[in-house]
Amino acid sequence: MSAIAELTVAEAILKRRSCKRFKPDPIPRDVLDRLIDLTIHAPSSFNLQPWRIVVIQNPAQKEALANAAWKQSQITTAPAVFVFAVSLNGWEKTLETTIAEATRLGAWPEKFVNFLRGAVPGFQKALASKVREYAAKDALIAATHLSLAAESLGLNSCLMNGWDEAGVKEVIGAKDNDDIAISLLVPVGYGLDIPQFSGRLPRELTVFSEKLPPQ
Ligand SMILES: Cc1cc2nc3c(=O)[nH]c(=O)nc-3n(C[C@H](O)[C@H](O)[C@H](O)COP(=O)(O)O)c2cc1C
Repeated sequence: MSAIAELTVAEAILKRRSCKRFKPDPIPRDVLDRLIDLTIHAPSSFNLQPWRIVVIQNPAQKEALANAAWKQSQITTAPAVFVFAVSLNGWEKTLETTIAEATRLGAWPEKFVNFLRGAVPGFQKALASKVREYAAKDALIAATHLSLAAESLGLNSCLMNGWDEAGVKEVIGAKDNDDIAISLLVPVGYGLDIPQFSGRLPRELTVFSEKLPPQ
């Protein structure tokens, strides 16, 4: 592992800024591997892990992706862009793998596994039009893990909503795949310049005790 003093979670949270331009320096392979491991350690509903993360480093792929994201400088300059796609029904194929791993680790007793096998199909079906929203929540949490892990490893990132979904799907090879939706793009690299902290709303406007005040 490249010699990096990893930051604490609090340090990473406070230091993270949305980086708009990156140096051309590549991310060392071992750092990228650690980043990916930390990202997919994220929690998800029923541990279904609906994210399907495509890491784009190839220059031609990056150019195509930039074209689907209004050529934003984060995409054009980052050495790696993480595309957080989600598979809406992929759990049907992966559930048994998830169960096997949790069982191997001794985390899920048989009773819970039996409950899950019964509950997950019904829960997912009942989501109906919300299935995409639920998968996106999981992917956003994984993307947040990525952005904080990146910071902790001396990298910078930018969470991004600014792209055209059909264009991004085409770039990752999912053009006509209705099972795939795009949740977020996250370019990662070594920041050329780091924006200043833009501040947050005063707590009184966004955090409340017990109930919302009359709106
Ligand atoms: C879900 C999400 C989507 C965002 N999309 C974009 C984007 O497309 N382009 C961009 O330049 N910044 C984007 N941002 C960055 C925000 O503008 C930024 O987080 C905010 O201004 C606060 O700045 P900070 O992240 O540096 O603290 C996005 C942030 C989030 C959380």
